[in-house]
Formats: sequence, C-alpha cells, structure tokens
Amino acid sequence: MKTMANKAQKYVCQACGAMFSKWMGQCDICKGWNCVEEELQNSHSASPQTIVPEHFFEKISESYKQHATTSRHETEMGEINRVLGGGFVDGSVILLGGNPGIGKSTLLMQLLSEIRGIEHCIYISAEESTKQVSMRAQRLKVTNDNLRIASSSNIHQILLALSEIKHNSIVVIDSIQTISSDLIQSPPGSISQVRFCTQELVNFAKTNDVVVIIVGHVTKDGAIAGPKTLEHMVDCVLYFEGDKAYDYRILRCEKNRYGSTDEIGVFSMTTEGLREVANPSSAFLSEYDNNVSGVAVFSGIEGTRPILSEIQALVSNTSNPAPRRSAIGFDPYRLSMLVAVLSNRCKLNFANKDVYLNVAGGLKITEPAIDLAVVAAIVSSAFHRPLPQGAVFFGEVSLSGEIRQSHLSYSRIKEAQKLGFSEVICSYKTEDFDKNEKIRLRKIKSIREILGILNK
Ligand code: TYD
Ligand code: MG
Repeated sequence: MKTMANKAQKYVCQACGAMFSKWMGQCDICKGWNCVEEELQNSHSASPQTIVPEHFFEKISESYKQHATTSRHETEMGEINRVLGGGFVDGSVILLGGNPGIGKSTLLMQLLSEIRGIEHCIYISAEESTKQVSMRAQRLKVTNDNLRIASSSNIHQILLALSEIKHNSIVVIDSIQTISSDLIQSPPGSISQVRFCTQELVNFAKTNDVVVIIVGHVTKDGAIAGPKTLEHMVDCVLYFEGDKAYDYRILRCEKNRYGSTDEIGVFSMTTEGLREVANPSSAFLSEYDNNVSGVAVFSGIEGTRPILSEIQALVSNTSNPAPRRSAIGFDPYRLSMLVAVLSNRCKLNFANKDVYLNVAGGLKITEPAIDLAVVAAIVSSAFHRPLPQGAVFFGEVSLSGEIRQSHLSYSRIKEAQKLGFSEVICSYKTEDFDKNEKIRLRKIKSIREILGILNK
C-alpha cells in the first residue's frame, strides 16, 4: 500500500504544486499548460523516534516572561526598518523576491554590511562563487568584520556549516532555486526541492533562533517561483521591484507576521550600490513638466507616508474595432472602467481611441484614490490641453461619476504643499483645514467638473 501512495504523488504541477497520479498537458487546478512534471522522490520516510519533551506545553504567563526580551534588530537602513515594521525579529524567515538583476543580492550585501550588533552575518551564495560575491562586496565598500561569505548549493552542507550559529545572527541564502538536496531526485528549482529546502531552513531558523533571509526568483507573472505554499511557510515576504529603465527600486511587503504590510521602502541604484531615497515625492516628480497635456500629479499614500507621483496618459486615434486600454503601474481593468465612466457620464467618445496610461518612475499604485488623477490625465490628453499649473489630484471615482473621499487627506494635502503645489483637486467631501495654509482646495463632486478645469 505504501508503494502505491508514493506512486500516486508522482506528477506535480510546477506552477501551483498540485499533485496528480498521471501526466497531463494542462494542470487541472491552475489551468497552466506544460507545467505538470514527473517528480521522483526517494522514500526516506523511516519512522521517526518521536519523543515528547517534559515541558512540551508552556504556561502563557511564563512564556511571556521568557520571551519578554525578544527584541528587533534595527538595520542602519531606515527604509528596510520601515518595511519590516521596525527591524528583524530573531528566528524569523524572510523571503525576498524580485526580477533578475533588480538588485536583490546588492540589497542584502549592503544590509549585512550596515547592520550593527549582530554576532554572525553570513552570506551564502549558490549562484555566484565567493570571488564574485567578494568583488561585489568590494564595490559596495563593505567593511563589517563580522560578515562571512560562502558558496555552496547543497542544503545539507549549508546546514551543517551553520549548526553552530545561534541567535543574534543573520543568514542570507541566495537563492532558494539554486540550492538542493540529494535526498530529492528532481532538479534544483523544482517544486519538491524548493519546498524541502525551505522547510529545512525554516526549521533551522526556529530551532537556532536565527534570522534567515531567502532570495527567491520570480516567474513571468511576478510571483515567487515555486509553490504558493512557500509564502505560507515563511514569516515575511518582500518583493524588490522597479523598472530597470529607471534607477528607482521599491521594497514592498506582501506578508508580515510581525508588522503591517503596507509600508514601502524606496531606493535608487547608483554605481556604488543602493541609496535610500529620503524624499520619494520629489524623486518621482523630478522630470515633471507641468505644461504638457496628458500629465497629472497624484498625491498618494503608501503605508503611512504620502508620495506624489506623475500619471501620464495618451489618447490616440485608432481604426482597431477593439481599441486598446493599456496601463503600466496601474490596473488595466480599472483603466477600462474609468474610460467607460468618462464615456457614459461626460459623453466623451472613446470608441475609436486607444488609451495608454503610465505611472512614471516604475511605481505601482493600487489605491483607488488615484482614479481622479487618471481621469484628469486622460481628459487632458484627449483635449490636448494641459491641466492647471501647480495642481495635484486625489479621489476615488465611482461608477456614477461621483468623486469619493479618500483617507489621510490631510497628509496628502500637506505633502503637496511641502513640494510647492498651489492647488489640490479632490472630493467635495474632503474636510477643510487651516484657512491660513497657502494651498487652495478645489472640491469637486463629479468627474464632469474635470472638463471645466482644463487650461484653455
Ligand atoms: P544584483 O544585486 O546582482 O541583482 P539580483 O541579485 O537581483 O539579480 O544587481 C545587479 C544589477 O545592479 C546589475 O545590473 C548592476 C547593478 N549594480 C549597480 O548599478 N551598482 C552597484 O553598485 C551594484 C553592486 C550593482
Ligand atoms: Mg543575485
């Protein structure tokens, strides 16, 4: 019967991790094509001698006392502390995903270089030789004496080498797709290998109370390659994003067991590594020209921090019966919806127009308050007339065309004022604030009013 059970789990979807008893061209679960592969596994499941220790259960009050001293390791990089909700927690496992060449290895090397008060800082690369790692470290002017590097792709060798490492240490594994175990017969990067190696690293982190940071490759769609369960196994999932055409890199948190997930960290890639961007708003607006049609400035909130960004739209004629609605840094479905609201409520004809939208600087914006800036940029491009100088926008647009209130309005307005903007165009429900402020609020109720504010 046991052999039958092993046979039954032979085919695994490399995209979603579903298991099948026979090979199939399309995965039944995620509907992906050509992703179901045979995976041979050694039956190494010898029955373990399970022992329950004397103090298996802890009294909660005693547990509190015992763990009261758990502190966070703050790094010298304020942007990383912000994203993690105040630094690394001992015994936690962090997964860092991102496109190749975006700067994951650079970020982690810098992080280890700039962290203080940690006994062991260890960087293990399975992708590069120690020579390559040290060349990068030299370029980044790493001086931390506690930092040690190694190159290995064997998980058992790595864990054996790490067995002496106990709490107050950080270990980086670069990357999970390139390390493997010889107990599993499938190749490195396959679902079984990735799952097994991650589990081993999680066990190590929890038993030795060590922070483990694992680098993960991403698939074409931007998700971390490997089973989705990988994200459930770790404590924190970070993504390092950005457009390679720009220098800006954004560290975003997808999951965090020890803090909130809505803060972002902003960096810029320089010839000497990553620099923290202290004032993201002025960075994202550095090339903003307020005399061009199709450009609107959006006052957004990322986590608790207001960030101004430039929204660019282009409306162009097309003879295509199905005109394009395409967006970078914004949800294309939401773009189609806003175009439909504009056609319906403002009686504008987009039937023979392509609409393109771009959020400058490689930012990705998901909060609905961006709607008003998107609509303003589209209208401005459609009429070839710029929006008023010194104006910023925020507000959600409902299907009826009404402009809805957004949270943290006051922070958005203050940020716009700080950067020298003179007017805020927002929902009629936005609360007034100190009349002595130099910035003017122009409150609007419906998207129809946007047509009235275009420059002649
Ligand atoms: P890397 O950290 O190797 O990316 P990843 O690990 O995500 O694949 O970074 C690679 C890119 O970063 C590479 O294109 C060169 C650039 N880079 C700089 O611009 N400045 C630097 O100081 C370093 C170390 C890298
Ligand atoms: Mg790398």
